[in-house]
Amino acid sequence: MQEPFDLLIRNAYVIDGTGAPRYQADIGIRGDRIERIGDLGSASARAEIDLAWRVAAPGFIDAHTHDDRALLGGPDMRPKLSQGVTTVIAGNCGISLAPMPRPIPQPVTPPLNLLDDQGDWFRFDRFAHYAQALRSSPSAVNSALLVGHTTLRVATMDRLDRPARETEIAAMRALVIEAMEAGAIGVSTGLFYEPAVAAPTEEVIEVCRPLRDFRGLYATHMRCEADQVMVSLEETFRIGREVGVPVVISHHKVIGAANYGRSRETLDFIRRSMATQPICLDCYPYTAGSTILSADRAATSARVIVTWSKALPQYAGRDLSAIADEMGVSQEEAIGRLLPAGAIYFRMDEDDVRRILQFDETMIGSDGLPHDASPHPRLWGTFPRVLGHYSRGLGLFSLERAVHKMTGLTARNFGLKDRGVIKEGAFADLTLFDPDTVAEAATYEAPIQQALGIEGVIVNGTLAWQQGRSTGARTGRVLAREAA
Ligand code: ZN
Ligand code: CU
Repeated sequence: MQEPFDLLIRNAYVIDGTGAPRYQADIGIRGDRIERIGDLGSASARAEIDLAWRVAAPGFIDAHTHDDRALLGGPDMRPKLSQGVTTVIAGNCGISLAPMPRPIPQPVTPPLNLLDDQGDWFRFDRFAHYAQALRSSPSAVNSALLVGHTTLRVATMDRLDRPARETEIAAMRALVIEAMEAGAIGVSTGLFYEPAVAAPTEEVIEVCRPLRDFRGLYATHMRCEADQVMVSLEETFRIGREVGVPVVISHHKVIGAANYGRSRETLDFIRRSMATQPICLDCYPYTAGSTILSADRAATSARVIVTWSKALPQYAGRDLSAIADEMGVSQEEAIGRLLPAGAIYFRMDEDDVRRILQFDETMIGSDGLPHDASPHPRLWGTFPRVLGHYSRGLGLFSLERAVHKMTGLTARNFGLKDRGVIKEGAFADLTLFDPDTVAEAATYEAPIQQALGIEGVIVNGTLAWQQGRSTGARTGRVLAREAA
């Protein structure tokens, strides 16, 4: 007589994360692992869930997040768990919470203020201390951590409007080594943002040098996603080649009406380059982006919604044009009064978003900003929107493909061993959902809303989310990268 399972999921359609067609099975979990998959009719268990032929998928992996602080401070990672996310990649776009070996400037240098506009959370002088804090007070979801080049610049340079000097590069490189030894999976850059714009390609290469020995990876919010997007792709690929590591093109998009349609060009270049070096990319399923508020970004957008304002918090969630009207001033003047602030910018083409989502190698990443007062709906809606709107609704790809883009593909690219797939012996990170009803509820007007159709979320064998609520479990781990 077999010992009872800890948790038994009965009557599931298993979508295993590899892209393979779904099949019917029961899933037996013991400890933090999937022990058996098959007809487990006679088996017993301490707890059972009858899925009544809804879907069991691997827990979703959010390929692009800014959850560094939410992992520590958020009570239960509701924006992520409610969507079925069990693992987040944090530290993107050049901004990580750690390391910050000296006091953070006040006011906090944008875009680091997207993580914390007060600065109190930039309290980890070594990356190891941040990782240790996460391990000793676990989050509800797993995490894999990048160290941000912009954070390193702020930590080591007296001014950011010039290239780093030899000594500064050496200091940043030492911090990269410390972070990698502490379990980081790679370095991210945000060459688009002011504190890193002055960094030449060579600086990035030299700072990233240690990544090769640690088999880390390089993720980038590229210097340009508009007119110069092809040049930026070339720069990204060069950095990958010279450092000798895989690259991740973060939130791939083409911005600005003049560039609509150019995803044909970028994807073609990405595909050709993939033949000669490892390249990954992620995407969020919306035509609007979101970051800090600035006049030049606003000027090139069809519509702008303010997501937060430190100076005038009451305007969060409102259109910039309406705010300017109400103030009786120009939009530029209104922006001046709102800063520091964040915004949503409408300046992408739906056809480009679909083409990029549909591209075989594209992973799903939310780029959600968890501390915004009125966040972009991608924070709460990304994953169900891909499953519901883009797969079931528009038929852009099969549900199996959609799941693959948020599980197996992502785990493989980031080197997250035994994650992202449902197989015997893999970690029991699972998302249980109804394929007929799964959908995002978050909108631009009402962005803080739990997804529909997510029935249960299991993190390392423990039920973390059930029937629309967190169970209070905090079984997330800091994941290492194990490169193939
Ligand atoms: Zn970014
Ligand atoms: Cu980002």
